[in-house]
Amino acid sequence: MKTYYKLIQGDCNKIMPTLDCNSIDLLIADPPYHIEQSNKLTKQNGKIMSTSSAWGHWTNDSFAEYDLMIKQFLIYASKTLKDGGSGYLWLDYSKVGYYWGYLEQIGLTPRNSLIWVKTQPMPHIRKTNYRSSYEQCIWFTKGEPRAFNFLKQKEMKNVFHANNTKRTTEHPTEKPLELFKWHIEVSSNRGDLVLDPFLGSGTTMKAAQELGRSCIGIELNPEYIDIIKKRCYGTTFLDRQVEYDFPEVIQYAN
Ligand SMILES: C[S@@+](CC[C@H](N)C(=O)[O-])C[C@H]1O[C@@H](n2cnc3c(N)ncnc32)[C@H](O)[C@@H]1O
Repeated sequence: MKTYYKLIQGDCNKIMPTLDCNSIDLLIADPPYHIEQSNKLTKQNGKIMSTSSAWGHWTNDSFAEYDLMIKQFLIYASKTLKDGGSGYLWLDYSKVGYYWGYLEQIGLTPRNSLIWVKTQPMPHIRKTNYRSSYEQCIWFTKGEPRAFNFLKQKEMKNVFHANNTKRTTEHPTEKPLELFKWHIEVSSNRGDLVLDPFLGSGTTMKAAQELGRSCIGIELNPEYIDIIKKRCYGTTFLDRQVEYDFPEVIQYAN
């Protein structure tokens, strides 16, 4: 079997229209949540800091601009997905209902909402609200799912427990590898092509590599491109021929 990994630096809304229509088996998208604030505190690596310092300043735009960006990328997602392809869209919980409705409007089929339970939730510094202990995504498909690999009953609850403190990179919002491996195992088969338009630290690509799926990843921030290269470039696999298409390929030692 042959797999390939392509990394593209830039705005996904400029790059996705250049991808082939009906070519993607599975989309994993974890865009900025539009919740970072300079006056909202969190704790990272033992330090108390504003959520905008901890999670990045990607979304200082108005909600209208954010909304346009998400809706545009969802339109491109619906074109690039194959019939029967699946998508996992991670969002702030306050926006799940809103984008669920939008997915239906553009002809995609939301099928469930999945919860990642953080096993080590951050303390609430000001003690004025509940501690944030979960994140949520929408699983949707384009028509009837072409791959749905039902794992063991206990692995198919719509709730997934994973540690939120074990990070392998400097990226501020790295998702647990096992969480994205779960999406890939359930909603694709070996050799399939996975797209992540907001690749961040490269979690989706790493998970795709470990499970024998090809992957195209798009990331806007050049600093994160370096993190992704270190994490994903050049790995070899005994069971397959691997091809890398990375920008300005640098030979990082594994
Ligand atoms: C929530 S993070 C993704 C984290 C990722 N799932 C991981 O596990 O590392 C969102 C990422 O989207 C990137 N981003 C924001 N706007 C983008 C755009 N228009 N096109 C591509 N990437 C974008 C940010 O730089 C950030 O790294």
